[in-house]
Amino acid sequence: DWTMENFIEQEVGKIQEKVGDRKVLCALSGGVDSSVVAALIHKAIGDQLTCIFVDHGLLRKDEGDLVMETFRDGFHMNIIRVNAQDRFLSKLKGVSDPEQKRKIIGNEFIYVFDDEAEKLKDIDFLAQGTLYTDIVESGTETAQTIKSHHNVGGLPEDMQFELLEPLNTLFKDEVRALGLELGVPEDIVWRQPFPGPGLGIRVLGEVTEEKVEIVRESDAILREEIKLAGLEKDIWQYFTVLPDIRSVGVMGDARTYDYTIGIRAVTSIDGMTSDWARIPWEVLEKISTRIVNEVEHINRVVYDITSKPPATIEWE
Ligand code: XMP
Repeated sequence: DWTMENFIEQEVGKIQEKVGDRKVLCALSGGVDSSVVAALIHKAIGDQLTCIFVDHGLLRKDEGDLVMETFRDGFHMNIIRVNAQDRFLSKLKGVSDPEQKRKIIGNEFIYVFDDEAEKLKDIDFLAQGTLYTDIVESGTETAQTIKSHHNVGGLPEDMQFELLEPLNTLFKDEVRALGLELGVPEDIVWRQPFPGPGLGIRVLGEVTEEKVEIVRESDAILREEIKLAGLEKDIWQYFTVLPDIRSVGVMGDARTYDYTIGIRAVTSIDGMTSDWARIPWEVLEKISTRIVNEVEHINRVVYDITSKPPATIEWE
């Protein structure tokens, strides 16, 4: 009989048998898949697991702290947070092409991860949150980048990991159920999709610290209001973007010449196609007012009403 408890018991047994008294490394992003795989392996082998959490400075507001609170303080996992903001920002300086930015962020992620992994001794396994669907099609999470990289022999010569992929028979909804059963908080289990390059592709054009901060603050307001309105589970993905333009506005007696924030909110099944979410006007009004009042350098807010296709969900 397939039940979640049986699955956990069985997988824990398999992991213990395979790993023995050796050590496992996991790249934790705070996304659903890597969080659940870390929780499952931790249940099986405890301190023999070490997680590396790379903070590239392009995460949403308070996201890094939430990951640490959940896994270090809650689960008592060995977890290393790498604060690599400066490293990523300097690599992105002067770069405005979206694909170029993706490549830089993806590569830098691997370098940072490898630098950290090399400091650890005697690691035999690399744990990954590969799902059944990832095997069939290529996935969208950061773990995939690592996977392709590490499989293609991108690791230093002296670092040979065996892969541990205990979720590779599961679908997303099963992974969520597993996560809840393992005590992973709802906020993480039901997290909306978030791209590996993070806010780096939501600041359109060149990424600067100031612009990342603008996107991060406006995104936090959007998320807060969507939650307050009880719309979290109705909208598949919702975020703000900062186009590389400025427009004229007026505040008090003064003319302003400042940035525009775009709100993107879509309904979708799998991200392949999507429709724009019909957020009630009162909710949009509140979001707009708050963003203009609370986020410096924003004097205009627009709502994206295009479906995919022809638009994509992200703006870059
Ligand atoms: P688009 O913009 O292509 O997005 O309609 C579809 C889904 O994929 C996510 N996305 C990414 N995820 N790395 C990722 O890990 C990326 O470079 C990337 N680009 C888009 C997007 O957030 C949406 O969920």
